[in-house]
Amino acid sequence: MKKILVTGALGQIGTELTLALRKKYGNENVIASDIRHKASKVIEETGPFHWADVTIPDTLKHIIINYDVDTVFHLAAILSAVGEKDPQLCWNVNMMGTINMLEIGVKHKLDRIIIPSSMAVWGAGVPQDLTPQDSVLKPSTMYGITKVAGELLCDYYVQKYGLDCRGLRYPGIISSETLPGGGTTDYAVDIFYSAIKTGSYSCFLSEETMLPMMYMPDCLKATIDLAEADFANLNHHSDFNVAAMSFTPKQLAESIRKYIPSFTIDYAPDFRQKIADSWPHSIDDSSARNEWGWAPSFDLDAMTKDMLEKLSAKHKLGLI
Ligand code: NAD
Ligand code: SER
Repeated sequence: MKKILVTGALGQIGTELTLALRKKYGNENVIASDIRHKASKVIEETGPFHWADVTIPDTLKHIIINYDVDTVFHLAAILSAVGEKDPQLCWNVNMMGTINMLEIGVKHKLDRIIIPSSMAVWGAGVPQDLTPQDSVLKPSTMYGITKVAGELLCDYYVQKYGLDCRGLRYPGIISSETLPGGGTTDYAVDIFYSAIKTGSYSCFLSEETMLPMMYMPDCLKATIDLAEADFANLNHHSDFNVAAMSFTPKQLAESIRKYIPSFTIDYAPDFRQKIADSWPHSIDDSSARNEWGWAPSFDLDAMTKDMLEKLSAKHKLGLI
């Protein structure tokens, strides 16, 4: 990995992944891109940023050729909740973006491409507790359909063209730097901002909705560790289960109350409840542990403490 392109670099994961990759591989060697024109100050000040629409291959090719890119982290996507509001947009961005990236990977002989998948690949027909690596994939959302198809496409390009393509099925990701972009697990980020700013939160999922989640430092570690793993050791490629913790909104509220005892929560489930109900409660990630040594560091209380410390500091500075 000498020259790296990150698509969707202004998103929740892309922002922090770009900064982590710049720290590791050098600021000038990590090119951020997004369909949004104005990058955040920290992304623009620490390295190159270029506008690109992943549904238009030429916009990506220019960057790949001009910078002699050898590795791509393809993060541009439409997530579950926004995807249910506009399924065609979700199909277009997620599927066209993925196949454009894979075609460019073959034509420009890229060294490797990392394309995240999601726990949204699952639906009916799988055990919801410790959902296994190799299982029935029958999602009920357009987002999930694009993630299943994306995994299959990546594996097809590995088999047919020998392209090195890797991916992991993230659970809900929680972070303190960039707001999430319209998913069903966004409540688990919003709740911290509300706890700091107002001391109360109205949750769009019911109190007993158990979902797998992961704190951003573990998400970055998983993504970079998989990208750096020896391809010869991988039996799976685009669909690694990864897990860190599972909790309900009620359990998260209890964890927050250990630091803010007066925090209150009420529940007003909306259309996202149906999406959450179709996803696992917990995930078996033994293939990732065995094939590339995956192990998370943060549990619920460690994450809550760190989130509250970071967001309180920003709130005091008037940044949130
Ligand atoms: P996000 O919504 O925060 O960011 C996506 C970025 O893609 C945005 O900055 C958006 O402007 C950009 N984008 C949208 N359409 C584009 C286009 N046509 N061309 C170029 N850029 C475009 O998403 P995220 O949470 O950072 O997710 C990154 C990846 O991780 C996605 O593949 C997502 O499915 C996956 N994932 C995320 C989570 C999570 O909890 N955040 C969980 C599972 C999987
Ligand atoms: N966090 C994502 C979402 O809720 C899961 O892929 O859409």
